[in-house]
Amino acid sequence: MSIFPAVALAFAIYTLPPPPPPPPPDSGAALFQAWCKSCHGADGRGVPSAAARLEVPPADLKDCKGSTAETEDRWVGIVSRGGAAFGLSLDMPAFGDAVTPAQIRAVVRYARSLCGELGWPPGELNFPRAFLVEKAYPEDEIVVTDQARGQEYIYEHRLGKRFQLEASARTALDGQPRAFDGVTGALKYNVWHSLERRALVSLGLEATPPLGRQDVWELEPFVAFGANPGRALVVQGEVVGTWEEAGGFGGMSYRLGVGHELGRFVPMLEAGWTVPAAGEHTLSFYPQVWVQLSRLGHVAGSLGAELPAVGPEPRRPRLIAFVLWDFGDAPLFRGW
Ligand code: HEC
Repeated sequence: MSIFPAVALAFAIYTLPPPPPPPPPDSGAALFQAWCKSCHGADGRGVPSAAARLEVPPADLKDCKGSTAETEDRWVGIVSRGGAAFGLSLDMPAFGDAVTPAQIRAVVRYARSLCGELGWPPGELNFPRAFLVEKAYPEDEIVVTDQARGQEYIYEHRLGKRFQLEASARTALDGQPRAFDGVTGALKYNVWHSLERRALVSLGLEATPPLGRQDVWELEPFVAFGANPGRALVVQGEVVGTWEEAGGFGGMSYRLGVGHELGRFVPMLEAGWTVPAAGEHTLSFYPQVWVQLSRLGHVAGSLGAELPAVGPEPRRPRLIAFVLWDFGDAPLFRGW
């Protein structure tokens, strides 16, 4: 080779952009292509290769709403122990015996990065629902609650990354003529969250029209927060103001709850302090236990009591309970 073409070739090689380096064999991306692609598709969208015969469609791992609403630990659990351990399909295999925990963590982190959008509140901040305090996390959920003889049926619907719409109806089976107690609509917005600080804050507004036993319009703006300091305690709180049509400012309520996770159970204690613009303060305590009912965790319940401590007589303890179904997570009869 004469000197000129040799120099030209060297120059061309030098100026060409280098080919992208292949991902290191132990990177999450490479492991995903090796282990998950046949069912979940190369991009995680859940379009399996023709060779894979699956009874249920593989989950769309790229869907931001689905992936961010769950915790990294739960995905690590599903990938290590397989779908069946969580009441999901046997088609989702268990990788735990064959590979290292570090490899599972890496492939799960990669799968969770496929969403590719910032700003979705992470599932780690989806703390167990308390009886009194409004959750700060936006949910797709149906809840039925009971407080002595009053029932509430709540439908929560997530909109985009941070909004949640809510509609609820109340009944009171207390022997009075009108059992229909009223309806409420609400909008909630997650204003701030931080996975690092394990905390989130949301703002919301509830509106109750004059229907059922409610005579006038009522508006209740609120701020709700949740935190998991040191991953030891779950602390949730809410401050609510009340405005009534004609009556104006009706007072404030301050609610605070503390819980501690023990496997499928979360014992909690809440306190609710109501300071009306006119009339007596009330203070009540709400000991309760939240219980994960389905193996997947999308159906849960809670049982406890309201114990009035300060306020007008008679102050009688009342039973409280709820069941909930997180329908954003899975259909009601899957995941058991
Ligand atoms: C043999 C096919 C198959 C392979 C291989 C496979 N999956 Fe799955 N996976 C499924 C199916 C099917 C489901 C849905 C299970 C259900 O809904 O019952 C699923 C569900 C999941 C879920 C649950 C998602 C949710 O929304 O709850 C995660 C997470 C997951 N797979 C991650 C992975 C990862 C990561 C890999 C690679 C390490 C992998 N899967 C390999 C078939 C597979």
